[in-house]
Amino acid sequence: MQFTIEVNNRKINAEKGETIQSALNRNGILIPTLCRMRDFTPTGACRMCVVEVEGRDRLVTACSQPVEEWMKIKTHSPRVIKARKTIVELLLSNHPDDCLYCDRNLNCELQKLSEELNITERRIKGRKVKMRLDQSSPAIVRELSKCILCGRCVRVCEELVTATTLDFLNRGRRTHIGTAMDRDFNFSSCINCGQCVLVCPTGALHEKHNISEVLEYLSKNDVTRVIQYAPAVPYALAESLGVRYSKEFDRVLNSVLRKMGFDLVFNSGFATDIYIDELARSLLERRDAGTVAPVYLSACPAWVKYAEQHMPGLLGDITPLKSAQQIAGSLIKTHIAEKRNIRPEKLFSVSVTPCIAMKFEARRDGMTRKGVSDIDAVLTVMELSRLVRLFGIDITNVGEEAADVPMDMRSSSALLADVSGGYTEAVCRSLNHIIGGKELDRSVFRKVRSGSGFREVTLSVQGREFSFAVVDGLTSLSRLNALLSSGRKFDMVEVMVCPGGCVNGGGLSFSSTREMIRNRSKFIYQTEEAEAVAIASKSPALLSFYEKTEGFDSKGSEYRSLILTHYNRRDVLL
Ligand code: SF4
Ligand code: SF4
Ligand code: FES
Repeated sequence: MQFTIEVNNRKINAEKGETIQSALNRNGILIPTLCRMRDFTPTGACRMCVVEVEGRDRLVTACSQPVEEWMKIKTHSPRVIKARKTIVELLLSNHPDDCLYCDRNLNCELQKLSEELNITERRIKGRKVKMRLDQSSPAIVRELSKCILCGRCVRVCEELVTATTLDFLNRGRRTHIGTAMDRDFNFSSCINCGQCVLVCPTGALHEKHNISEVLEYLSKNDVTRVIQYAPAVPYALAESLGVRYSKEFDRVLNSVLRKMGFDLVFNSGFATDIYIDELARSLLERRDAGTVAPVYLSACPAWVKYAEQHMPGLLGDITPLKSAQQIAGSLIKTHIAEKRNIRPEKLFSVSVTPCIAMKFEARRDGMTRKGVSDIDAVLTVMELSRLVRLFGIDITNVGEEAADVPMDMRSSSALLADVSGGYTEAVCRSLNHIIGGKELDRSVFRKVRSGSGFREVTLSVQGREFSFAVVDGLTSLSRLNALLSSGRKFDMVEVMVCPGGCVNGGGLSFSSTREMIRNRSKFIYQTEEAEAVAIASKSPALLSFYEKTEGFDSKGSEYRSLILTHYNRRDVLL
């Protein structure tokens, strides 16, 4: 039901049941918020969104208060502005004064509010409390003294990620955000997804940077500097630098990375093709062996850690295939190093990815050989974007170059791997190709491309049926488990922790809106459709690699030792 309310002496339309904030926003009036997150029930914790309602003594929070027909609202009266200003001034009163050195400098919601509310001096002086700087996690840094207790991270971790790692601890002035028993992150149940980093309005939570060590190695002459980048990185980098993406951008990125000083540049999509091809073949083997349980993907390192902590009984059904990053990393430090006559310890190997959890994955047990790590440093897209600016590279004017062989090309299936449901589609294509089915029409996959958090598709090839499930965000695991308990059979289950897939990864832009995430997926599908090689198992780079490299065909034992890993039950504080 629609009705009219009065806002700032003008009439606007409102809908029964919506909040004051929603009615205002629809009518082009913006009010500041801090604790509010779209799609989450409002808590009214920060009171930044207060407005004046005629007849009410106290200011009301627009994000949580439903609109009512009789309301006359003032959104920017002197009283309202003073209240908002005081809230920000109080937050700033004990906030560290190190904006210039903060991870979120120029991208901080508190800084922005302070500027918008015209706060130009420190009116309220509070005692600066030195709180813990937790650098124990390989992926995320916590700076508790920058926390403004908005609670966004707690809610995202509990309601969206379901890891329930963070909570409010203590009371009154001693209240802070912490993990179980207030221990450091590395002891906690955190799965390193980085979704809390994306919603934190200040620099209280941020990714662990590897920029300094990369810079150090870029200036060394006695090492070979190698870099690989995930298929979605060129697009995400263009987005973060505000540059228009074109299909040549992969080649532009190769040129940019060489200008920074990298000696060898690889497209990790080559390894994604290995992953897809191997997985498709293993599905056939499992079917022939009469295995009933589905195989679970291992491509999302946050999911693998979640399973190790919460579902250890499932570990035998997670494919032992390493992720594409780690497959490429082990090939670089063995086969490629040997071919180029470089000692593995003299090779510095960097990976660029949209995912923060890959920083953790590179440090996992089983990702080293004789004490040498397969990957030495993992950069997120945001870190790469900083490096491009640091090196003063004009990305619009660098020319185009090919990546280095053998990892110079990928199929379009590898690009799909960065969206939720993409691995499923890619494995179906390879499976269909291996069995000898007719070319698949992309419309078969309409249902796995979008929809709810749980999606499924059945593929019929040569009289054989294969069923696939897509779990897009861990909240949909319960739906999968309910179906499995009712006797439903799946051959493969794809699980991605970040809703939407890696296009919503923790290593991407902080201010990603739902629309930006949707656009990234849309763009990936459009780009993919225009590319020539759609099936991972038919990638010319992969076929040539298998053909030219003795012992490295898909059955060679040397090769298998490089691409497989293991998982262990993980005891953490829950
Ligand atoms: S990284 Fe993910 S799991 Fe860890 S605290 Fe943040 S939201 Fe929770
Ligand atoms: S860590 Fe960030 S998101 Fe979490 S409560 Fe503090 S300021 Fe808010
Ligand atoms: S945004 Fe409304 S109370 Fe925080």
